[in-house]
Amino acid sequence: MLTVLKHPLITHKLTQIRRKETGTKDFREGIGEIAGLMAYEITRDLPVKKTDINTPICQFSTYELYGDVVLIPVLRAGLGMVEGITNLIPDAKVGHIGMFRDHETLKPMTYFSKLPENLEDSIVMVLDPMLATGGSASAAIQVIKESGAKKIKLVCIVGAPEGVKRIEKDHPEVQVYLAALDEKLNETGYIVPGLGDAGDRLFGTK
Ligand code: PRP
Ligand code: URA
Repeated sequence: MLTVLKHPLITHKLTQIRRKETGTKDFREGIGEIAGLMAYEITRDLPVKKTDINTPICQFSTYELYGDVVLIPVLRAGLGMVEGITNLIPDAKVGHIGMFRDHETLKPMTYFSKLPENLEDSIVMVLDPMLATGGSASAAIQVIKESGAKKIKLVCIVGAPEGVKRIEKDHPEVQVYLAALDEKLNETGYIVPGLGDAGDRLFGTK
């Protein structure tokens, strides 16, 4: 269940953050803006309920969102996507899962998890700019499922075919959204062409 969101604005902003000379400020802004643009499409099937309002002119039957939306950024890099989405869904709850890839084995390690209650009835969006081997996202989704979530969307900016396959195999019911499906992984598990280490570029740690 993969959707690659093609839009000239997304492509343009992605080109900017792929450039190696793009610094932390512009990288951070770009990640946030792309997440916001993706949110428009990802939220297309959010449930709405009927409501009666009064406009300045007359009474009117219309619709508004109902139900909880929960954003779960995978630390650290997923944090960069939160604000772009909460700008559009200010009532969204935010949980956190800390994962890092062991750089030798590429295996994900969970170091933090704090999730909102009642995930059963919520639309849960797992946020991580990078879907490389898919190990981190798959492990994060497993933790989130074990906490009760039933409707899960994985929202990544750049993905590799290997990561998409891994999610399709481990969590076939999860909808995966990407801004770009890149070519492959290199021998050290980085996405090619990719955009490098998203966490380090977001937080200026290298
Ligand atoms: C990056 C990225 C993903 C993970 C993707 O995080 O943000 O979480 O790698 O790789 P995978 O699909 O092969 O698991 P990293 O482990 O570098 O941690 P960081 O966000 O703290 O930098
Ligand atoms: N994590 C990143 O930050 N970048 C990659 O290319 C792969 C994993």
